[in-house]
Amino acid sequence: MRSLKVSSFENYTEVYNYSVSHPEKFWSEIAENFQWRKKWNNVVKWNFKEPEIKWYEGAKLNITENCLDRHLVLNGDKPAIIWEPNDPDEAHRVLTYKQLYEKVCQFAHVLKNNGVKKGDRVCIYLPMVPELAIAVLACARIGAIHSVIFGGFSAQSIADRINDADCSLVITADGGFRGPKDIPLKEVIDDALVQCKSVTKVVVLTRSRTPVSMIKGRDVWWEDEIKKVETMGKHDFPAEEMDAEDVLFILYTSGSTGKPKGIVHTCGGYMVYAGYTFANVFQYQPEEVYFCTADIGWITGHTYIVYGPLSQGATTLLFEGIPTWPGPDRFWDIVDEYKVNILYTAPTAIRSLMSFGDDVLNGKDLSSITKLGSVGEPINEEAWHWFDEKIGKGKAPIADTWWQTETGGIMISPIAGVTPTKPGYATLPLPGIQPCLVDESGAIIKGNGVSGNLCIKYPWPGMLRTTYGDHERCRQTYFSAYKNLYFTGDGCLRDDDGYYKITGRVDDVLNVSGHRIGTAEVENAINMHADVIESAVVGYPHAIKGQGIYSYVILGSSTHNDKELVKKDIIKTVTRLIGAIAKPDKIQFVTGLPKTRSGKIMRRILRKIAEGETSNLGDTSTLLDPGVIEEIKNGAF
Ligand code: WT7
Repeated sequence: MRSLKVSSFENYTEVYNYSVSHPEKFWSEIAENFQWRKKWNNVVKWNFKEPEIKWYEGAKLNITENCLDRHLVLNGDKPAIIWEPNDPDEAHRVLTYKQLYEKVCQFAHVLKNNGVKKGDRVCIYLPMVPELAIAVLACARIGAIHSVIFGGFSAQSIADRINDADCSLVITADGGFRGPKDIPLKEVIDDALVQCKSVTKVVVLTRSRTPVSMIKGRDVWWEDEIKKVETMGKHDFPAEEMDAEDVLFILYTSGSTGKPKGIVHTCGGYMVYAGYTFANVFQYQPEEVYFCTADIGWITGHTYIVYGPLSQGATTLLFEGIPTWPGPDRFWDIVDEYKVNILYTAPTAIRSLMSFGDDVLNGKDLSSITKLGSVGEPINEEAWHWFDEKIGKGKAPIADTWWQTETGGIMISPIAGVTPTKPGYATLPLPGIQPCLVDESGAIIKGNGVSGNLCIKYPWPGMLRTTYGDHERCRQTYFSAYKNLYFTGDGCLRDDDGYYKITGRVDDVLNVSGHRIGTAEVENAINMHADVIESAVVGYPHAIKGQGIYSYVILGSSTHNDKELVKKDIIKTVTRLIGAIAKPDKIQFVTGLPKTRSGKIMRRILRKIAEGETSNLGDTSTLLDPGVIEEIKNGAF
């Protein structure tokens, strides 16, 4: 068995080299750290052509036995989850491993009593309360496949996702709290379900106790269902035995086409990768309190609030609210109150909190912090230094972690306290990860001081296996651009020290406040507006969000020609079709779009105009009608 953690930079280099020269041995030794009902016959079988990727074939396990059962004897009374509610005046909750175990088992019974079987898909649309983690784990315990949907998505988006995965049961709450807002979750689900024939049951948790419709035969209250289980005296639920390659969950993410894709992760490899990366990157010590500020609706929450930390017996803090409510000191109060040791957050949150000035930090005791993490988008140097100096007080290493929904866990990142950091750099690959940069022709670029498209050469246990229901799309998106490589969609540079710096997406995917949104998705939504003829969406630099959404729109001839109102109508349309996270920040009405003679929109030019770089638009000679450029330039901003 090999320790999940490297112990020094020297040791990192040694382990890294071993992981490249003996990948199967390495991943087998890492996997020994987990609890298996039966060990694997093969460590990995793979080809990136189809692709076919199988880790730990033949092995049997249940991930919840690793996250719960195996901690009961020694750590049963240790806090597993600390929950901080949205409203600081509401009581917080602590669930020990024993209590979490029991709640997961009870809810597993609830799922079973409501007809859920191994392999069934369950949609989870809950606020950030402990029951969200409980629901996720209960699905895993009975072998059902969860598909968690972030609370910011609209009814239409939910319906699309439920239908794509053919979910039979939905778990939601009456409502949820986020800052000053009440979110009517059940109402959104009711609207979604009008379009979803596959759903026969809805379990509704009481959170806000706003009035909701409850349909006989379909809708049941979480608490009533738990009571039935309690009356029967059930406190345990034997975990379903899963094959390593059985599906654990589906999580939808945006790509460069209009339709989100369901990224599929499987039980064995994902478990190993989540636990390994959590333990190693954050160098987690048994008494530490760990706070990841993400939402469980995104992959960061799946891997680094739920599965990673719990598989390592850590104490994970789950926060229901937002960083700026009731005041911009909310995170710092939480760190102070719970003596948080490890804080893992996003550049957009750091930039937003920075903007309130440093007085907000007065009187907050942040001395418990020993390690910091950043994820979701490139972190600019100013934010990096502020995080380092003001939050880490210059003594907490920052792990700028690069990874993706598809990678399941962290890929390129400093190991806290081990890897010398460099502001703005994700630094070096974790042991087991073999990145490379490729040029336009697909050739691997050797040496340092180079940039190119970021690819991965060798599989890792946490990688996606397919896109749900559409394997060809998986092949096309990730494995067709470059032969025998996984293509990340990111541009990257490798400096003279061999350090990696991610420079951003090279496809039509935006990163708005760390959330991935496809330009085609937003365009489709804008085009659904009755008076829109055509639109083009690009990203532009945004001081807080990283990227903002800029849209160029051609309108028809409606009599509703108050332009400001039409903008609001368009925003409403996008909010209804996708959700508030996809709202355009800027809408510019134009009479034409720059197109090539073959009819392709030249986004490069639109991007430059949105960035305010109108003086150097590059070659425009292939344009069908160069005249539109002048008009667009004059109307920009
Ligand atoms: C995309 C993946 C990884 C969980 C959260 C986002 C960008 C992510 C970094 C980083 C620069 C980053 C990439 C990536 N990204 N982390 N540390 N530095 N860029 O997951 O929604 O799947 O988005 O986020 O562009 O491809 P996601």
